[in-house]
Amino acid sequence: KKVVLAYSGGLDTSVILKWLQTTYNCEVVTFTADLGQGEELEPARKKAELLGIKPDNIFIDDLREEFVRDFVFPMFRANAVYEGQYLLGTSIARPLIAKRQIEILRATGADAVAHGATGKGNDQVRFELAYYALEPEVKVIAPWREWDLTSRTKLIEFAEQHQIPIAKDKRGEAPFSVDANLLHSSSEGKVLEDPSLPAPEDVHMRTISPEDAPDQPTLISIDFEKGDAVAIDGEPLSPATILTRLNELGRANGVGRLDLVENRFVGMKSRGVYETPGGTILLAAHRAIESITLDRGAAHLKDELMPRYAELIYNGFWFAPEREMLQAAIDYSQKEVSGRVRLKLYKGNVIVTGRESPNSLYNQELVTFEDGAVAYDHRDAAGFIKLNALRLRTLGARKRRGA
Ligand code: ARG
Ligand code: SIN
Repeated sequence: KKVVLAYSGGLDTSVILKWLQTTYNCEVVTFTADLGQGEELEPARKKAELLGIKPDNIFIDDLREEFVRDFVFPMFRANAVYEGQYLLGTSIARPLIAKRQIEILRATGADAVAHGATGKGNDQVRFELAYYALEPEVKVIAPWREWDLTSRTKLIEFAEQHQIPIAKDKRGEAPFSVDANLLHSSSEGKVLEDPSLPAPEDVHMRTISPEDAPDQPTLISIDFEKGDAVAIDGEPLSPATILTRLNELGRANGVGRLDLVENRFVGMKSRGVYETPGGTILLAAHRAIESITLDRGAAHLKDELMPRYAELIYNGFWFAPEREMLQAAIDYSQKEVSGRVRLKLYKGNVIVTGRESPNSLYNQELVTFEDGAVAYDHRDAAGFIKLNALRLRTLGARKRRGA
């Protein structure tokens, strides 16, 4: 029996590793992904070796480009936002981790996968729906739902018994739980659990506070091709490089902080503090380029579909046919979404200052208050309004009769 574990190298997943070896007596394959969380990966290799994993069973992959190109960018084509605020930074990373775990399961002849998500959250659902979609007969092990290491003290005890090295700052209670990748970092739990209290400033890890941001605005431009960002300030860059660069610009200007209460798929409300500096800039810029290149009917339909699409990603249905159907429609809508957007970043704000496109539908001649439009006759508007008013007049008359 062989199990592929999503392994960060941290205390929790190291305990899981040992627990899998001792409880299931199975061979463990570790998989550590670089998704841009900003941590060194080599320590995870060292730690896995130390815990007795054979070099052949240690997988470490840089998935940053694939993450942004095949997951983040497709999602941003939809302007996806969950419950009006959350840019889905954790949700969109789970299907990629799961997909790679299943690939490694096949490559190593393993029969099970394991993850370190708790039994109360969304992540267990996202991981496992993806596993089952890609490998219907896979065995799934979710230690947090099975073991009795239910307190920090028990976890530390287990680690000590099994010679798992514990970083000094990990001995006490963790102040909150963190998940991070190139798109965002999120913090939940513990000191953040009371939603009436402000988050401590030091929860924030990838933005400076807007109060500390420079008094001078930062001016940038972003070029789009078929709905995807391809260049910053005219310089062509790879997807992951673009997001990295936008994160730096956002960080320095205090852009992309969010404190919210959201509805988890499993039923409870939870409070989170998120930072999505680059994503927040990208969303504003993408909407701006769409504003001149998309027809109204297409744009409004996209906006109707968006909450549904966002909910599918939040709930873990990335590999479901309804998500793929919506994606096909969204991708089709992006054919003409190319051009340049100019933005001003200033003390937490993202302000669009200009947009231009060879495919623009914006017609200055049509919209101008000055004379000169050819395709538009003011007098046509009178009949347009009158016919649209017909129902309202009929209803108004009935109301008057009733009164
Ligand atoms: N609530 C967010 C989501 O469901 C983030 C979950 C992971 N974050 C964490 N700090 N453990 O997508
Ligand atoms: C977890 O439960 O592991 C993190 C929170 C979540 O998945 O919603």
